[in-house]
Amino acid sequence: MIRVGFIGTGGFTCHHVNILNELENIEVVGFVGSSHEKAETFAQGYPGTSGYSSLENMIANEQLDAVYICVPPMGHENYEELLIEHNIPFLVEKPLGIEEAKVRHIKHKVKETNHLTSVGYHFRYADIIDIFKDHLKNQETGIVLGKWMGSMPGVYWWRNQKQSGGQFNEQTTHIIDLIRYLFGEVKSVYAQEVNAITSKKDSSVTVADVGLFMLTLESGLLVQVSNTAVLPGGIGEVGIKVYTEKGMTEWQPGQLEMKTPNKVERFLAKHNPYKKEAEAFFHAVETGDRSKILSDYEEAWHSFKVALAAEKSISEKRLVDMNEISE
Ligand SMILES: NC(=O)c1ccc[n+]([C@@H]2O[C@H](COP(=O)([O-])OP(=O)(O)OC[C@H]3O[C@@H](n4cnc5c(N)ncnc54)[C@H](O)[C@@H]3O)[C@@H](O)[C@H]2O)c1
Repeated sequence: MIRVGFIGTGGFTCHHVNILNELENIEVVGFVGSSHEKAETFAQGYPGTSGYSSLENMIANEQLDAVYICVPPMGHENYEELLIEHNIPFLVEKPLGIEEAKVRHIKHKVKETNHLTSVGYHFRYADIIDIFKDHLKNQETGIVLGKWMGSMPGVYWWRNQKQSGGQFNEQTTHIIDLIRYLFGEVKSVYAQEVNAITSKKDSSVTVADVGLFMLTLESGLLVQVSNTAVLPGGIGEVGIKVYTEKGMTEWQPGQLEMKTPNKVERFLAKHNPYKKEAEAFFHAVETGDRSKILSDYEEAWHSFKVALAAEKSISEKRLVDMNEISE
């Protein structure tokens, strides 16, 4: 039995615990919350588990084989460092954080100790992404457009630039990560962001609500990504569209559509990528074979770095080469 602890007691911890409950051989044993009371109340929803006021307490009281870190970007504390120190593998939700120096330090520690990690870029595990990747092998891509168009999540930290790092770091990072996975590394970034609507109505909102990001990849491919959080809840668009010499291919989280002059093919997602992500991680925990993990900490660092470059581009109003962000 693999014994798993969680840090964070919010929406995404619930999501992951429900998935882990479907897997054989996994036992969720405890939760660390922002307060002991919160953690205990949360643990009461999952019989047989306990709530802890700190990761140190959970480590002292449980025989942990792995930990999931599901906290907001500003809430990582020293969790990764402690887990590395105690040699406990972890799966950490994206984004890796907000503080460049801290994330870089963890990346170095992970590498130095060859620590087992996985990062929650779950779209990489989607069956239709496998089909997309294969399909792209047979053609030359002209241009790529990516988007994350939605509404502003209700959680307080998301609306605060210092706590979430903004939409591009928090959400659109999924699109950037997939672009890297499908087309290769980013060479430079030019970005613009403004708050078009939201902060006029609510002065506590410090994140931009629209942004445009122009990426040049190392291959020379041009990619344009846009995001917004101005929409009302219940509607939105997330996706990547590719224009090639053979036609147009559009991925959305639930489906992949390929259009050529003569036909339209549609593939619907069949498997839950979060489940595959969890299976890959626990396979590594159990056997030491990490080959099924599609994004570990070091890999995810490169997606985080694109958000750092975008932030620099916005503040300095210029194109930023990825080499300007040190390893
Ligand atoms: N991969 C995905 O599809 C996906 C989807 C949603 C959220 N996420 C990510 O999961 C993470 C958590 O998001 P959420 O939706 O669960 O947020 P949430 O606000 O619902 O929950 C966050 C939880 O973390 C706790 N917390 C805050 N600071 C803490 C700290 N210092 N120590 C311990 N606990 C702390 C809060 O009390 C809360 O219980 C974020 O990084 C988010 O980007 C990923």
